Amino acid sequence: MRSRTRIGSRLGAVAIVFLLAAFAEVRPPARAQSFDRYFPAKDLTTVGVYYYPEHWDPAQWERDFRNMAAMGFEFTHFAEFAWAQLEPEEGRYDFRWLDRSVELAAEHKLGVVLCTSTATPPVWLVRKYPEVLATAEDGSRMDHGSRQHASFSSTFYREYSSKLIEQLARRYGGDERVIGWQLDNEPRRFLDYGKDAPARFRAWLEKKYGTIDALNAAWGTAFWSGTYTSFSQINLPLHRQWGMNLHQRLDHYRFADEETATFLDEQARVIRKHVKGRQWITSNYIPMYDVGYVGASRELDFDSYTRYMVYGADRGLGPRGYRVGEYTRIAMANDFFRPLKGMYGVMELQPGQVNWGAINPQPLPGAVRLWLWHVFSGGSKFTCTYRYRAPLYGYEAYHAGIVGTDGVTPTAGGREYAQFIADIRRLREKADAGAPVPAAYARRATGILLDADSIQAIGLNRQTTEWNTESHVLKYYRALKSFGAPVDFVRRGADLARYPVLVVPAHQMIDEELIAALTRYAEQGGMLLLTCRTGLHDRRGHLWEAKFYEPMWKLVGAEIESYDLPMPHAPNTVRFGSEDFEWSSWGDLLKPRPGTATWATHQGDFYAGTPAVVSRKLGKGTVTWVGVDTRSGQLEKQVLARLFAERGIAVEGYPEGVLVEYRDGLGIALNYSDKDFVMPLPAGTEILVGDTTLETASVLVWKTPRG
Ligand code: GAL
Repeated sequence: MRSRTRIGSRLGAVAIVFLLAAFAEVRPPARAQSFDRYFPAKDLTTVGVYYYPEHWDPAQWERDFRNMAAMGFEFTHFAEFAWAQLEPEEGRYDFRWLDRSVELAAEHKLGVVLCTSTATPPVWLVRKYPEVLATAEDGSRMDHGSRQHASFSSTFYREYSSKLIEQLARRYGGDERVIGWQLDNEPRRFLDYGKDAPARFRAWLEKKYGTIDALNAAWGTAFWSGTYTSFSQINLPLHRQWGMNLHQRLDHYRFADEETATFLDEQARVIRKHVKGRQWITSNYIPMYDVGYVGASRELDFDSYTRYMVYGADRGLGPRGYRVGEYTRIAMANDFFRPLKGMYGVMELQPGQVNWGAINPQPLPGAVRLWLWHVFSGGSKFTCTYRYRAPLYGYEAYHAGIVGTDGVTPTAGGREYAQFIADIRRLREKADAGAPVPAAYARRATGILLDADSIQAIGLNRQTTEWNTESHVLKYYRALKSFGAPVDFVRRGADLARYPVLVVPAHQMIDEELIAALTRYAEQGGMLLLTCRTGLHDRRGHLWEAKFYEPMWKLVGAEIESYDLPMPHAPNTVRFGSEDFEWSSWGDLLKPRPGTATWATHQGDFYAGTPAVVSRKLGKGTVTWVGVDTRSGQLEKQVLARLFAERGIAVEGYPEGVLVEYRDGLGIALNYSDKDFVMPLPAGTEILVGDTTLETASVLVWKTPRG
C-alpha cells in the first residue's frame, strides 16, 4: 500500500488565518451561485452528445434520440456546421429541419445546445464575397471545402454572420427546449492577410498608441531604421521574414486574439437580445495557454473547452500510457477554465478513437470513463461528447462515436459514457451538493499566475531552444498535483490573498503595479514563489534601462546579476540540500542581500558556488526566487515542499499520474499511472464508485464526511 507523505505537522497561527481564508475560498465563489439557474447544483453534472441531423436520414432522427436518451444523455447539440442547410441561398433561411430536430429531441427529454455555424460559411457566400476567405502570409487564399476558412478580420463576414445569428436567436431565443448556445467552433487566432485585416490592424494600433511616435517608441523602431511617420505605412508583419520586428509581431498576435474575442462578443450580443429564459452562451475553446482570446470574451456566461486525450502523440506513463493520455491535460484545462468565470463545462470529450492523429490508437478500456470523472472532479457542470454517430464519409470518417457506423450499436466508449451517466444519476441522491471540500485539501489551495502575453513574448524570443514555458509551468503544476493541492490558474487582477501559496512562473513582462501587488501579497502573509525570467521586461517587452531584472531585486531580496544558457550537451547542476539537479535551459546567477537565504547553488562551470534559489521573509510572508529550470522538475518540487512545510501545511505524496480532487461532498481519485494505486481511506468510508485499489485508468469515488 502506498502511504501518504506528510510534510510538516505543526500549524502556526498564521497558518490558521490562511486555513480559514483558503477554506472559505474553495467554496463556490459568489458568481458560481448564479450558474445554478443553468445547472442546478443538485444535478451535479449533466452529459450531452453532438448530433448532426443533416448527416442522417430524417427517418432515423427519432430512433437516434430515443437511443440517446435511453443511454442516459440529457442534452444534444445541433447546427454546429450547418450554415449551408440553414441558409441555402442568400437571405433564404430554412429552419424546418432544425425545428423538427429540436421537437424530436424534446420528446425524448433531451435539451438542445444550438450553435452559430460560423465556422462553415456556405459556398454561395464565399463565391459571391470571396474577400471573406482567410488569406495566408504568402498571399494564398483558403477555399470552400473544409471549415474555419473565413476570417474574423473580415468586416463583411462579421456583419453577415450576425444576420444568420439574428435569425437563429429570434427563432430559438425564447424556446425553453434550447438550453444554451455555442458560438462558432473551437475559435482560434487567424493571422489573416486579407483585404480588411491591414486596415483593422492599423486602426487597432492607432487606438492603442494614439500617436505614431508612441508606436515608434514601443516598437523600438529606431533599431534598423524601422521608423514610421504615419500609421498608414504599417503593414501586417511577415512572421516568416527573418528579423521582423518582435514588438510588431507581438502586437499582431494581440490584435488577432482580440479579433477572435470581439467576434464572439458580437455574436453573443446578438443572441442576448432575444434570449428570454435561462439559456446560456459559451464557446468551445481548445485549451491553449499562450493566447489572449481564451477567456477574453466578456459577453459569454462561461468558457468551455474541448479535449482529446489519445491521438498518437502523448506517451503518458508506462508502455500503455499512450492509450490513457497525459494526466495533466484535463487537469490543467479544468484548473485554467474554472477560474476564468467561476464555472466551466467541457463541450467535446473524446468518445474513442479519433481519425486525425498521425496514429489513432484505441483508448485503454476504462480511459474514456476516467476522463469523464476527471472533468467532473474539477467542478465542471457538464460534459458533452463529440459525437453520437460515427461518420461514414468526409474528413472525419473513422472517428468513433457513442454508437458505431451502423448508427445503433454502442461502442466501448459509448458504454463507458452510459456507465458514467448511470453513476452520476445514482450519486445525485447520495452527494452533498454544494458541500465545502475537506479542510486539509482547501488549505493547500495554490494559485499560479499565468500571463499569456509573457508566454507569447518568450515564444518569439526564447534565447535557448532548451526553454519551453509550458513545460516550465508544468513542473510546478505536477508537483502541486502530487501534493494533492487544488490549483487555480489565475490572471492579473485576481484576488491573490485567497491562496496561501502563489507561483509566478516566467512572468516576463511586469510593471510597478504588479510588483506592488506581489509585494503586498507576501507582506500580508502569502508565500510567493517567483521563477526565472519574471520581470525581465516592461509591459512593452523592452528590457529595463537598468541592470537585469533590477526592478525585481527589492522584492526578491537579491541581485540577479546575469543568467546563463548552457548547451544541452553540457548541462550544469544545482545543489539543493544534499541533492544535485541537472539543468540546461535557464539559470540565474544570484547575489542575495543580507537577510536572504540561499537555498540552492550552481555546482559547475565558472560560476560554481553562485546561488540559484534564494528565499527571504517579507512582512508576514516569504518571497522565494527559483532562478533555474531543471530538467526533471524535482528541484521545483522540493522547493514547493519546503514552502508548504514552513507554513505547516501538510501535503500528500501521490505518485505521478494519480490525482485526487473533491467536490460536492465527494472524493474522487483517478489513476493515469501504469501501476495500481491504493487510496488510503479511513475505515468506514462510504465508497460510491470503484475500489480502493485503483488499476490503471480506474476511478474511485467516495463520500466525504460533512463538517
Ligand atoms: C474537434 C472539433 C470537432 C471535431 C473533432 C474531431 O477539434 O472541434 O468539430 O472536428 O475535433 O475529433
